[in-house]
Amino acid sequence: MIQFTSVKDIGPLDKAVAEALEIKKNRFGYEHLGRHRTLLMVFFNSSLRTRLSTQKAAMNLGMNVIVLDVNQGAWKLETERGVIMDGDKAEHLIEAIPVMASYCDIIGVRSFASLTDRDADYNEVVLNQFIRYSGKPVFSMEAATRHPLQSFADLITIEEHRIVDRPKVVLTWAPHPKALPQAVANSFSEWMTQANVDFVITHPEGYELDPRFTAGAKIEYDRRKAFEGADFIYAKNWSAYTGNNYGKVINTDRAWTVDTDIMAITNNAKFMHCLPVRRNMIVTDDVIESPQSLVIPEAANREISAQTVLKRMLESL
Ligand code: CP
Repeated sequence: MIQFTSVKDIGPLDKAVAEALEIKKNRFGYEHLGRHRTLLMVFFNSSLRTRLSTQKAAMNLGMNVIVLDVNQGAWKLETERGVIMDGDKAEHLIEAIPVMASYCDIIGVRSFASLTDRDADYNEVVLNQFIRYSGKPVFSMEAATRHPLQSFADLITIEEHRIVDRPKVVLTWAPHPKALPQAVANSFSEWMTQANVDFVITHPEGYELDPRFTAGAKIEYDRRKAFEGADFIYAKNWSAYTGNNYGKVINTDRAWTVDTDIMAITNNAKFMHCLPVRRNMIVTDDVIESPQSLVIPEAANREISAQTVLKRMLESL
């Protein structure tokens, strides 16, 4: 595997999940693969889970790990071609990327959407420059439009906790005070539409996602209908994608907060969220603390999704 930026890069999902579950049982069984190999993790944005889980996954594989927080202690980096660099950015990605690549074997990149320029965001300008100029395997640690390591961990978690062959999985928009990217929702949709699940998305009007990610999903504007009989509820906020509202918060209706009343009409559904989560905006305390909540095992599976991807990349070197 030389890049991991979307579900397309992982191959058959049943095979990937089986491999992940085998790795979970034997985390140190592939330690030899990473000997004298170095992972560089480049963060343009903050992280708790991705940083720790990916570093742990690399260490399980015997790798050395170096981390660059671009906005803390590094030169500010220009990302657009052709600009006159007379501002505060001292270095261009086109030089910085091959320099960074010279110190490592594999690169992970986190670079969120700007939410101001939809075309630039959806063209993945930063991530694609790493792929183009590094000459090294590159994986996304959440980019502008997708968060594939999260979606892979979500799929592993659903596989571990499903009690029917083909569960009903519902992605529900939930309110948040700040504008958030669509990446987690896009990515979850892209993975679930390829998984063996009945997948439904529910959100207020105006929060339609890019149809390139939701093709094959059922869109249900009536939240109660969507929740009926669900086996898994996956809550997430995202800002508007469509038209002039791109990147804007157009609704903060707390009627969309996931609470015990709405969970009561599900099939005793498990609750999922990628974290970090705003309690009593996205989900009430009692739901996230209930026995049905999977948020902690879901986060723990980030180590397993990252290790599966890194293992495949190491095997390709
Ligand atoms: N879910 C997730 O990616 O968490 P972090 O932003 O803390 O890495």
